[in-house]
Amino acid sequence: IPVDPFDLVIFGGTGDLARRKILPGLFRRFRAGTMPEESRIIGSARSEHTDEEYRQIVSDAIAEFGGDEKDDKTNLDAFLGRLHYVRVDAAGDEGWEDLSALMRDGVIRAFYFSVGPSLFGALAERLHRHGVADDDSRIVVEKPFGRDLASARELNETLRSHFDEHQIYRIDHYLGKETVQNLMAIRFGNVLFEPLWNNHYIDHIQITVAETVGVEGRGAYYDKSGAMRDMVQNHLMQLLCLIAMEPPAMYEADAVRDEKLKVIRALQPVDYHHLVRGQYDQGTEGEPGYREDAGDPRSFTESFVALRCHINNWRWAGVPFYLRTGKKLKARTSEIAVVFQDLGHSIFEGDEKRHRNILVIRLQPNEGIDLQVTIKEPGPGGMRLIDVPLDMTFADALGPEAEDVPDAYERLIMDVFRGNQTLFMRGDEVEAAWAWTDPIIAGWEARGDVPKLYEPGTAGPDDSAMLLHRDNRRWRDIK
Ligand code: BG6
Repeated sequence: IPVDPFDLVIFGGTGDLARRKILPGLFRRFRAGTMPEESRIIGSARSEHTDEEYRQIVSDAIAEFGGDEKDDKTNLDAFLGRLHYVRVDAAGDEGWEDLSALMRDGVIRAFYFSVGPSLFGALAERLHRHGVADDDSRIVVEKPFGRDLASARELNETLRSHFDEHQIYRIDHYLGKETVQNLMAIRFGNVLFEPLWNNHYIDHIQITVAETVGVEGRGAYYDKSGAMRDMVQNHLMQLLCLIAMEPPAMYEADAVRDEKLKVIRALQPVDYHHLVRGQYDQGTEGEPGYREDAGDPRSFTESFVALRCHINNWRWAGVPFYLRTGKKLKARTSEIAVVFQDLGHSIFEGDEKRHRNILVIRLQPNEGIDLQVTIKEPGPGGMRLIDVPLDMTFADALGPEAEDVPDAYERLIMDVFRGNQTLFMRGDEVEAAWAWTDPIIAGWEARGDVPKLYEPGTAGPDDSAMLLHRDNRRWRDIK
């Protein structure tokens, strides 16, 4: 379904995120017919470019990051024809009149702040002062949204002094992933799971976001951030919220976000003994370790975090949530595993094995759902039980339709034009997440905590396995 016509201004329009994600994503939506012909994209940055030069930059970006066999020149030319460029000094006053003159009435005006957070305030203020934004305008901002509670609050205040909360779209691209939304469909669209979704039936939950890449090339940003700020405070927290929240009264932005906020506020502070920090070491073949990638031989920044946390409410009392994420691990796997409790009693003689139902929601790769069930081992050998997965890989189950799903950015950008904030973080959510994260980081700093080294290509430091062993549990394999 096409969105209403828009003028989208991308500040940082020649930057990395714009070239890798935003512009190729917009092109794919244009090709799919979701972006109406009358819409325009206005790239903006400090350097001088003509429209023609900008179109070339974008065309190169699409070829490098977004091209596929469906690209045809007619579509691409039509898309490039929708592009303009205006040189604007975000922190100064140059170029704003030109931008203002270019904006049209009667279409949605959206502004993507694809720049560092230090420029958010300057941009928001100038958009107003120069009459570029109107009351229906939307602004889109990216993480990092602050680096602690104080800075996040300050950013929120700055943005809110020029825009209302309903105009501010804070992106967490994990919320745009297809399976993440499926999580809500599975929980609230089926009768099977929700009755069991509590501490009477669930033993524990594991959330894993494992990456094989290191921080090469992004060391300068990452070293000031670390896995806790880069991944746990936002992406893993969002997954935790969707898994743990109470059913919202309806699938509507504030109803959903109110429930997520309650989860974050109910999180118990994490005990030091339930926290593991790791940093990847050099590879056995001499591949650079984290410190080399980060350009700081004494860095204590973590590239891995594992932790156990609890949600203090009726539904989840006593159910541990284990979270882990790291770089340079064994495989690129993101999944949520809901591990149900053991059966209290087995009627099958000689069957002493622990059988457990496990619901696995796979985010990537091979998006899909797996339900581990216990059945009889085939053959004449009597009632011997085995555990097998009921596997639903979306690509197999849905065929070609599953291939055409928009990627996270495409979906989220289109939601901005639809005025749908369900998959965007509200300001209070972000602040609550920092309020939970800050003491963890402060604790590490106060103790001068040194992350445990781990070998690249493994599941992280041994302490991570110990975290579960101590509770008589184990992580699922990263594969
Ligand atoms: C980003 C982090 O937000 O998410 C990166 O800054 C991380 O460090 C990335 O690599 C992971 O996203 P995805 O979609 O590849 O799982």
